[in-house]
Amino acid sequence: MALKSLHLLLHLLFLANGFCNSDLHFPQKITISIPPAYDPNLHGRAFVLASGKKHLPSFRAGLSLEAIANNLYSCSLAVFLGGLKVWSSDHFSPFSPSKSCVLELTSNGVLQVHDDRGLVGWQTTTFSQQVQRLLLEKTGNLVLMDAKNYTKWQSFDYPTDTMLRGQQLNAPFSLTCLNYSFEVLHDMLRISLNWRGQRYSYWELVPERNISFARLGSMGLKLFDSNSRKVALITGSHSGKQSNRLLAMRRDGNLGLYYYSAVTREFQASYQASNKPCELPLPCGNYGICTFSNSCSCVPLVSKYDDPDGFCGNGNAAAKMEELDGVDTVLSSSSLRLINVSKEECASSCMDECSCVAARHSGDGIWRECLHYGLVGGVREVERGESGHSYWVKVLKGNEKSSGFEKTVVIIVGVFDGLVLCSIAGAILYCFIFFRKGFISEQEFSEN
Ligand SMILES: *[C@@H]1O[C@H](CO)[C@@H](O)[C@H](O)[C@H]1NC(C)=O
Ligand SMILES: *[C@@H]1O[C@H](CO)[C@@H](O)[C@H](O)[C@H]1NC(C)=O
Ligand SMILES: *[C@@H]1O[C@H](CO)[C@@H](O)[C@H](O)[C@H]1NC(C)=O
Ligand SMILES: *[C@@H]1O[C@H](CO)[C@@H](O)[C@H](O)[C@H]1NC(C)=O
Repeated sequence: MALKSLHLLLHLLFLANGFCNSDLHFPQKITISIPPAYDPNLHGRAFVLASGKKHLPSFRAGLSLEAIANNLYSCSLAVFLGGLKVWSSDHFSPFSPSKSCVLELTSNGVLQVHDDRGLVGWQTTTFSQQVQRLLLEKTGNLVLMDAKNYTKWQSFDYPTDTMLRGQQLNAPFSLTCLNYSFEVLHDMLRISLNWRGQRYSYWELVPERNISFARLGSMGLKLFDSNSRKVALITGSHSGKQSNRLLAMRRDGNLGLYYYSAVTREFQASYQASNKPCELPLPCGNYGICTFSNSCSCVPLVSKYDDPDGFCGNGNAAAKMEELDGVDTVLSSSSLRLINVSKEECASSCMDECSCVAARHSGDGIWRECLHYGLVGGVREVERGESGHSYWVKVLKGNEKSSGFEKTVVIIVGVFDGLVLCSIAGAILYCFIFFRKGFISEQEFSEN
């Protein structure tokens, strides 16, 4: 591995010693070559800007090269707080150059990331706006300025998974990580899982007055109305007086507010939207059940070879709905909702919809609700026979017989320790990852 990364290392050392200022002037070109052999653990960084050294950890910006799926690397312009990536140009679409990756500050004022043949992976829309320099402010905001010091573009306007202290954003906006998003809308805050084009929310907060903008302060996330009056505050509690440095949507679907602990030299959460693993949408993956003891179990009657896509096509004819007792889901959906139908109608309406793989019915009397799901997610164990709701999954006919269960009485089988993957899961994208010694190879590159 040392050999593989060697020539990348040389570039990075050169860059680290060469120019790590708080601004760069146009035109300018910075190139890193892609290692010929694939290293799945590679996190290459070529820092060109540094700022905010007063408060550790400090901000740095530069080219970042990271291994992604399919033996590819993605190259981006990125901002780091210590070893933590807090903004990157490839957050929404990876860019995989084959030979080398170039960060160019072009003579017509555009900042771009391209490959050796000029294929552009990302660029700013600042053509001919007299941009003169790229600046990393002490807040971590990456800014393009013209000769009169007017801001022509700033990374703070394009949030990815992280909001930094001092950052202000107008509603609506969102922080996203993998399939999860934290949205600040005018009338509510919401965290949801996006699955096959549908949104399933699992955390909501509705303030009394409408939200106009949000700012992250050292106390936490402050929400304001159009008269700049405070509407709500999401704040954390932790011992010590360290102020919060960032708010991040995590890759497990949790939203957290973090401060930097000088003792552990890590970011630590002072607030998390979900305090229990079972409140998250996929702690046990698709078709997994999060149990009372916070371990995972699989939804019974569903063999892991049942392709959830398989119900569309011929599959639906061979399927039926089974009610699961003693489980519920944390997911809710406003678009796939039927009002005032019976439990049986709810199950059969899901049966009629091939993309529906699970349904939840709740309420009785005048107000009854039926939700359809395109995934068996957010499922957790609840007290058996807890009244008021029922949860159904679509299974292949025959599975119920071979498992020897009574018709609708379904119990949770085998509870296993640790993570049980009940269907294909996993993603090799990086959003919010903690900085641990030796985990991000930054030190290898710049501190030898
Ligand atoms: C722009 O900012 C730089 C650095 O702060 C300063 O040196 C320069 O004088 C400023 N230019 C103008 C036109 O204000
Ligand atoms: C609050 O926001 C919602 C959704 O955007 C909108 O329909 C409603 O009119 C707003 N109310 C006020 C008082 O602005
Ligand atoms: C994201 O959602 C898609 C379906 O829309 C799913 O196939 C994929 O596995 C999900 N990724 C993660 C990381 O959950
Ligand atoms: C639901 O249905 C019941 C009878 O089936 C009816 O009395 C009630 O008004 C309906 N409620 C709504 C909200 O439609």
